[in-house]
Amino acid sequence: MRILSIETSCDETAISIIEAKGGFRKPQFKIIAETIISQIKLHKEYGGVFPSLAKREHTRNLLPILKTTLRKGKLLNPIKNAKSKLKIINYKLKIDRIMEREPELAEMLIEFVSKNKVPKIDAIAVTQGPGLEPALWTGLNFAKALAILWDKPLVPTNHMEGHVYAFFAKQKKHYFQFPILALLISGGHTQLVLVKDFNKFKIIGQTRDDAVGEAFDKVARTLELSYPGGPEISKLAQEFSKNYKLKTKNCSWDLPRPMINSDDFDFSFSGLKTAVLYKVQKIRKITPKIKQEIAFEFEEAVTEVLFKKTVSALEKYKVKTLILGGGVVANKKIRKRFSDFGKKTKGLKVLIPEIKYTGDNATMIAIAAYFRHLDKKTYQPTKTRRIKANGNMELK
Ligand code: KG4
Ligand code: ZN
Repeated sequence: MRILSIETSCDETAISIIEAKGGFRKPQFKIIAETIISQIKLHKEYGGVFPSLAKREHTRNLLPILKTTLRKGKLLNPIKNAKSKLKIINYKLKIDRIMEREPELAEMLIEFVSKNKVPKIDAIAVTQGPGLEPALWTGLNFAKALAILWDKPLVPTNHMEGHVYAFFAKQKKHYFQFPILALLISGGHTQLVLVKDFNKFKIIGQTRDDAVGEAFDKVARTLELSYPGGPEISKLAQEFSKNYKLKTKNCSWDLPRPMINSDDFDFSFSGLKTAVLYKVQKIRKITPKIKQEIAFEFEEAVTEVLFKKTVSALEKYKVKTLILGGGVVANKKIRKRFSDFGKKTKGLKVLIPEIKYTGDNATMIAIAAYFRHLDKKTYQPTKTRRIKANGNMELK
């Protein structure tokens, strides 16, 4: 089946169209077209994502991205005669109600739909949550309107499920075995999730305070680096390894490894972030070398905690497949630590998405929606109008 998906949970506006086949037994995905616009440059000024600005940008970007994606997928076909225009007028009231907060977008969308043929797709997927609610609502309302205008089923999708399945994008063959353990690390989440089967998730551990990505971003701010901090810290840490030829430890900075030996699978990164702050406050002049050193040691501390907890969870639950997902998976040190572990551990498969699919994207949402759509137990098409965005949506 062909799925068009929409993602607007944070600061990326993204639309993808994929062809999914094979069912639960041999799932396979082909990306027909994908477009993504990042708002990072705009949010940089605020040192983080500013929700009302994110919403405004999604509202501006959605329709142009939809057109671009359909065009790239050769699915944009203008209507030659004006007959079908009449039909759309019947929907106008409904659409105006759904998109009452985005009246201009509603008008442009109706105009667009009235001039173009319904594309050959089978369903529309959209991120329902978790995320920033104003941002989520924009994408959800747009998707609802499209579902009504094109008469397609709407599949509301959990953003974190998307991160779990992101490794499926651009890979031909997959070997995995349930139960799977997923380590999800992003700007808003740090979770260890036991995936018992498709669409069956159990969170076995999560952060009690800051998410990993959030800690990266806050430490970056302490070091006066720009937003988002993850890539900046990672760059400095690499420079430190290169310049001072230090492969692992041997660092004069001693940062804590919070909760590394606790007998649960929870995390805590707020103390680590504060430890960096206190150390920095004590130094009179922060030289570039000190910055590199702190970045290196911070990355080490985070990697060690994530690694140790994940390995104990793999052992406890006797898991043979580990998946990594989320924006922080772009981090080279973290990728390497886990992929090296996968290579040397017999019977363990470690699946890591391509860097392009670690951060927020719509392709992962389409993939997660495919598995939901297949599952008649957990997916029943509901009245489109009743679906609500859910900023705190949990995996289950
Ligand atoms: O998954 P994502 O794109 O958005 C959320 O759903 O939160 O994750 C964004 C987070 C940011 O905190 C960013 O600093 C972090 O991922 N990140 C990284 C790297 N690239 C992005 N963290 C560490 N190292 C990186 N290379
Ligand atoms: Zn995300």
